[in-house]
Amino acid sequence: MQAAQFAVFGHPIKHSLSPPIHQAFARQFGIALEYGTVDVAAEGFHDAVRRFFAGGAVGANVTLPHKAAAFALADERSLAATRAGTANVLTRLGDGRLAAHNTDGAGLLRDITERHRLDPRGRSALLLGAGGAARGVAWNLLDAGVATLTIVNRSPESADALAAAIAEPARAGARHWEDLAALGRYDLIVNATSAGVLGGGLQLPCSLAGPRSLCYDLSYGAAAAHFLAWARTADAGYACDGLGMLVETAADAFELWHGKRPATDPVYAQLRGPDA
Ligand code: ATR
Repeated sequence: MQAAQFAVFGHPIKHSLSPPIHQAFARQFGIALEYGTVDVAAEGFHDAVRRFFAGGAVGANVTLPHKAAAFALADERSLAATRAGTANVLTRLGDGRLAAHNTDGAGLLRDITERHRLDPRGRSALLLGAGGAARGVAWNLLDAGVATLTIVNRSPESADALAAAIAEPARAGARHWEDLAALGRYDLIVNATSAGVLGGGLQLPCSLAGPRSLCYDLSYGAAAAHFLAWARTADAGYACDGLGMLVETAADAFELWHGKRPATDPVYAQLRGPDA
C-alpha cells in the first residue's frame, strides 16, 4: 500500500522543518508517510493545492505567504481559522472537500504554558503586529486568561481592526506605535510582526520589558535574533523564539490527520540541539 501523502506549501520552503518534524512524529507510532515540500508562488498556489489533493493526498501544512489563500480556498473552516482569517492546515475530507484549520494560537499557548512553564493568567500582554500571525494568536491569549491585551501595529488601522474584531474593549485595545515608550512594562510581549523574517528589526523601547517579562518571538532562528537581542538588552526575565510553537503546531496537525498525539519534547530537543 502506498504511504499516505502530506506536504508543506510555501515560498520559499526549502529550509522548512515541517518534513523532519512530521517524520519524527510518525516514527513514534511506526507510521509510514510521505511528507514533501511544495515551493509555489502566490499565483500558482490554488492550482497546486487542488492538484495535490486530487492525487489522493491527505493533508497539507501551509506557510508564508499562502496562509490567507489557504483559508480562502477551503470549503470548511474551523473557528480558529475563521478568527485568524488564515489557515496553516488543510485536510481532505471524506467527500473530497477541503477543511481549513489554524493551529498557531494553540501551539503558542502550549509552548508558553507547558514547555516554558509560564502561566499567562492575569498577565498584561502586548501584541506587536496585527497581520495574519497576530490574528492567529490574539484570541488564544485572551482565552488563556491574560488580564489585558494591547495591540500595537506600525499601521494603526490594522491594530484598530483587530481590536474591533475581538470586541472585548475591557480587555483588548489598540495603541499607536509612537506611544510604545509611554505604555510602561508588560508581563508578556509577543512579536508577531514579520520584520525579522524580512531581514529587519523593530525599534522598541527598553521600558516595555523587565525581570518579570516573557518576550516571545513567533519566528525562530535568524528571524528572531533581533527581537531576542532587544529582550536581553531590556533585561527581560525570559526570552524565547517560536521553535517550540512550531513543533506544537505540527503536533496538532499530526493529531488531526492521524488521530494520535505525538510527544513533542524529544523532537524539540533534537531541533534545538545540544546548546539549548
Ligand atoms: P504575517 O502572516 O507574518 O503576519 P502579514 O499579514 O503581512 O504577515 O503581517 C505582517 C505584520 O508585520 C504586520 O503587522 C506589519 O505591519 P504593517 O501592518 O504596518 O505592515 C508588521 N511589520 C512588518 N515589517 C515591520 C517593520 N519593519 N516594523 C514594524 N512592523 C512590521
